[in-house]
Amino acid sequence: MIKLEQNVSLKPHNTFGLEAKAAHFIAFTTIEELLESLKMIDPKEPLLVLGGGSNILLTQDFDGVVLKNELKGIELIDEDKKHVWIKAMAGENWHEFVLKCIENGWAGVENLSLIPGTVGAAPMQNIGAYGVEIKDVFDSLVAVEIATGQYHEFTSEECEFGYRESVFKTTLKGKYIITSVVFKLDKTPKFNTSYGAIQATLDEMGVKALSIKAISDAVIKIRQSKLPDPAKIGNSGSFFKNPTIDYIDYEGLKAEFPSIPGYKLPKQKIKIPAAWLIEQAGWKGKTFGEIGVHKNHPLVLVNYGNGNGEDIKNLAFEIKASVAAKFGIVITPEVNII
Ligand code: EPU
Repeated sequence: MIKLEQNVSLKPHNTFGLEAKAAHFIAFTTIEELLESLKMIDPKEPLLVLGGGSNILLTQDFDGVVLKNELKGIELIDEDKKHVWIKAMAGENWHEFVLKCIENGWAGVENLSLIPGTVGAAPMQNIGAYGVEIKDVFDSLVAVEIATGQYHEFTSEECEFGYRESVFKTTLKGKYIITSVVFKLDKTPKFNTSYGAIQATLDEMGVKALSIKAISDAVIKIRQSKLPDPAKIGNSGSFFKNPTIDYIDYEGLKAEFPSIPGYKLPKQKIKIPAAWLIEQAGWKGKTFGEIGVHKNHPLVLVNYGNGNGEDIKNLAFEIKASVAAKFGIVITPEVNII
């Protein structure tokens, strides 16, 4: 039975821990409840679908309806000699899903340990970390079209995954609600320790026999050492995406800033770590009252407790402007600003 609540605080529903009120709020725990909610809603009212609230910056009260996805369940739906197909409902906590996969020996998501958020939010921005992106383990997803209540199954191709991108952030933005995701995982792990810090951490931990649990433990250790825990300090992970520039421009910058890092991409492009640009522009560890730039990772903007979303947005604009002025590179937010 769904309940339409009025004037609900969104503070517990966003990892930045920002105060903002939703005019209307409905949590749904079954597909039937979701369909019932969609029928109740005035189609003219603004709609915000929330999973774990780990990728949004709330800058004001939301004068519309918030739909909180609380669909739960994880099941093995198919297997062959080498693979398992695991269906997870969209409201499952991402990290708990990863832990369940590790417990069962289903390999492929261990590098994505400890990422805040839900299973349903993961494909929206093709979450990635330590050399793996969700698109690498994705099979398909089911989403409900908001306007019609119809189901649609999306293949990987239809999701149009890119770096922190999918069709749900571009052409289909605001049109679908993801209800479940199917992952194709391996029975025999293909360990991915290519991201330098993983191997170094495994060595430091004295790990001799590699396992998906060991990789997960190493990733957790790395993340805990440099990324703030949203339960303690409000944040939404990387605030900006790493920008891509032309190699020719990179060579020009390299002459002026010899230590500028870059990761080569196809087509004469190169990806620059936004963290480096922001640190060089002098922002790392800077605090402004209740908000700031995290001391261990400048890509993460933080709310120390009573921060305000509008102030974080303004800080982000200042950072963006100073990076553009110093390097001529435009960095764009990864986080959805509402
Ligand atoms: N760097 C600095 N100063 C710092 C930290 C990093 O200059 O304080 C530079 C260094 O050159 C370093 C480089 O940035 O080598 C890369 O840093 P890191 O390995 O921490 O990765 P990132 O590119 O900053 C990305 C993802 C993270 C993900 C890590 C690990 C984006 C926007 N962010 O960060 O994802 O955990 O790689 O794979 O792509 C998230 O999306 O919320 C997130 C945390």
